[in-house]
Amino acid sequence: MNPNSNPSPSGRLALVTGASRETGLGREIARQLAQSGFRVLLTARRLEAAEEHAHALRGEGLDVIARALDVTDDTSIAELRDEVAASPGRLDVLINNAGSYYDAGAEAISSDLGYAHEALELNLFGAWRMTQAFAPMLEKSEHPRIVNVGSAAGSFGDPVLGLDAHPQGVPSYAISKAALHALTIKLARELKPRGILVNVICPGFVASHPGLEKFGARPVPDGARCIVWGALIPDDGPTGGFYRDGAPLPW
Ligand SMILES: NC(=O)c1ccc[n+]([C@@H]2O[C@H](COP(=O)([O-])OP(=O)(O)OC[C@H]3O[C@@H](n4cnc5c(N)ncnc54)[C@H](OP(=O)(O)O)[C@@H]3O)[C@@H](O)[C@H]2O)c1
Repeated sequence: MNPNSNPSPSGRLALVTGASRETGLGREIARQLAQSGFRVLLTARRLEAAEEHAHALRGEGLDVIARALDVTDDTSIAELRDEVAASPGRLDVLINNAGSYYDAGAEAISSDLGYAHEALELNLFGAWRMTQAFAPMLEKSEHPRIVNVGSAAGSFGDPVLGLDAHPQGVPSYAISKAALHALTIKLARELKPRGILVNVICPGFVASHPGLEKFGARPVPDGARCIVWGALIPDDGPTGGFYRDGAPLPW
């Protein structure tokens, strides 16, 4: 699939969640979307963090605006929704990147269920709330796209990292990502008649935290690029799929 066949993103608006960290995927996704011609709403729970990154990206000549956004907080979401609804009244791309609760070494049989609830609140309900809130504005876009940032850890079929394979657990994280994958399928079916393409993309093992490259993690720009691919697919592109680097992954 050739992303270049997509209409020019110039003048279009993209929203990225969870872009608080300098080395995180969110900031780099925002950069690449802006480099592709989008105006980007770079959001983070802490406004100062969002402002710092937006300021740095504007220094690169990019069109990036900072906003505070906590995707587990209905009021925070409603504030941003109302602002975008008032102007420009339209959203072209929603990247549900905010995600965490990587409970390495845990086992489902003894997991702290409070922690598991929090993982679902962020990794599943965060994206769900955002999609409900912004769907009316996505419907007003000519080329609306939603990308959920998933994980091979939530795959039933990945032989190395998947639900049935990961040697060290991450049960809360993996189950919440599997639920996000399932949500993607449901939303894609429902939103297809409205022209909104919804996919879930795993960025691979990415060096978004210091030291991970020593364990074989790929550079952040590579992981971000495969997320941004989902924003640039043409109108006849896929919906309801699970991808990495533009290739399908097993659910
Ligand atoms: N790195 C990998 O190898 C990898 C692999 C597969 C999938 N992923 C996924 O990629 C996404 C980005 O991860 P990352 O590696 O870039 O790590 P990261 O920098 O830790 O990203 C997580 C982001 O989510 C934000 N966040 C947490 N709770 C939030 C909330 N309630 N509302 C809004 N934002 C919130 C964090 O902000 P705060 O600073 O405010 O906590 C942080 O900016 C995640 O969905 C992750 O599951 C990563």
